[in-house]
Order: sequence, then structure tokens, then C-alpha cells
Amino acid sequence: MTLDAGFERNPHTDGIVRCRGVTKSFGAGEASVAALRGVDLDVYAGELLLLVGPSGCGKTTLLSVIGAMLERDGGECAVMGRDPGEMQPRDRARFRGESIGFVFQGFNLLPTLTAEDNVSVPLLIGGASRRRARQRAREILGTVGLGERLDALPAELSGGQQQRVAIARALARDPRLILCDEPTSNLDHETGAEMVDLLRRTGRSADRALVVATHDSRIFGFADRVARMEDGRVQDVVAANAAGAPP
Ligand SMILES: Nc1ncnc2c1ncn2[C@@H]1O[C@H](COP(=O)(O)OP(=O)(O)O)[C@@H](O)[C@H]1O
Ligand SMILES: [Mg+2]
Repeated sequence: MTLDAGFERNPHTDGIVRCRGVTKSFGAGEASVAALRGVDLDVYAGELLLLVGPSGCGKTTLLSVIGAMLERDGGECAVMGRDPGEMQPRDRARFRGESIGFVFQGFNLLPTLTAEDNVSVPLLIGGASRRRARQRAREILGTVGLGERLDALPAELSGGQQQRVAIARALARDPRLILCDEPTSNLDHETGAEMVDLLRRTGRSADRALVVATHDSRIFGFADRVARMEDGRVQDVVAANAAGAPP
């Protein structure tokens, strides 16, 4: 399978992420761990790309570099044509807020805020009025099927529902890139699969890319392409149906 299998695109205009030879190590000297050893990866607008590989292969580190949360050591990385590593911290934070939505492994919802308020936070940070933030939060929570649970605290919601709030929050500012780290790991398989399906249905659009790190091979069927990572590198990228997807 070639890199471009099964996905129509224009690599000159549709590239959302372009990594070449990206390296990142943690620690120094003897204790240093090379988490990324030269990652090459392209992610295009309109696609859902799964990043798969065994625990410790570098998935979270790569998402953190792409998401401008962690500085790489070497190589090139462009996100929407810009290099987060070159930005001043303030600009980087703004870029992240405007352009990238995150769904973290443990959801990272604020425990004392309702579902509506959790989704409102990024909107308020982005300068929306309270009224506008509330309106948008309600709209997007409705889209993910939580229109009836706006006032619930995270602890009052099931794992699957909390994940829906996290997805709504990631989508709130309509970012061009959404990064999800192991979205199914805290959920049973069925809920996990529903979640990725929901992400695909609500999050996928022609000018947005979704990157989902997972070791759950059962969700391969929801992706357009699968990038296989091993030992700090992307080994290959194949069309999802070539990667042993369930129907
Ligand atoms: N903050 C850190 N400090 C030291 N080592 C780290 C840190 N984060 C990740 N690592 C190491 O980098 C490697 C890749 O980790 P990670 O990106 O979390 O992999 P994955 O998400 O695929 O499980 C692992 O060997 C891990 O132990
Ligand atoms: Mg991880």
C-alpha cells in the first residue's frame, strides 16, 4: 500500500500537518530516552488518521509536538504551514487555542464546572461573550447528544458522556485540527467505538483533520488512514481498510 492509498487529496493545498525527521528525547546523558527518532508524517484536511502502535512507541509525544505543547529537539514540523517551535509562547498559546482541539486521555474536564461551563471555557478564553459562549456550548453539546445534561457535573456523567463533553469542548472553537489521545482507553469497547464514530460524524469536515492515537485495533474501521508507529518512528501509513479493519 502506498502512502496515499484510499484518500483523495491535494497535498499542496490540503496539508494540515507535515513532519519530517522529528526527534524528541527526554532526560539527559545515560538516562536519556529517545521518544521520537525521526518521524515523517503528513496529515491532510478532511481525513481521520489513526496513530497506532504499542505503549511507549511515542504516540503521546508526537501528538504533544504536533499540538504545540512540547518542543521537539530536531527535524521539521509545520502545522497549517506554521512552525509552532518558532513562535513566541504567547503566539503559540493563541495558535493552539484557535486552531487545535484536544481530547485528552483522562478527558481533563474541570470537576467543579457543569458540562456547559466546561465547553464554554475555551470560547471565553477565545474572547466570546458569556452569552455567545453559552449559546455555542449548548449547540455543540446538543450535537454530541448531551442537550439534556447541560447542568451535570462531570462526576454525574458516565465515562462515555464525559468523553462526549471532551469532544464538544475540542470542537467548540471549530479548530482545523483535532488531536485525541487514546479516546477509548477508559471506556468499554462498545462505548469507545461509539465515541470514535461520533467524533467522525460530528468532527470530520472538508477542511479539518482528526488525528486519533490508539492501540485499539477494533476502531480501525472508523479511520481513513492508519499510521503505524514503532519505536519512535512512523513505519508506514496505509488506507484503513488495508490495515485489517472491521466492517
Ligand atoms: N515526560 C517524560 N519523561 C521521560 N520519559 C518520557 C516522558 N514522556 C514520555 N517518555 C518516554 O518516551 C517514550 C514514548 O512515550 P509516549 O509518547 O508516552 O508513548 P505512547 O503514547 O505511545 O505510549 C516512552 O519510552 C516513555 O517512557
Ligand atoms: Mg500515550
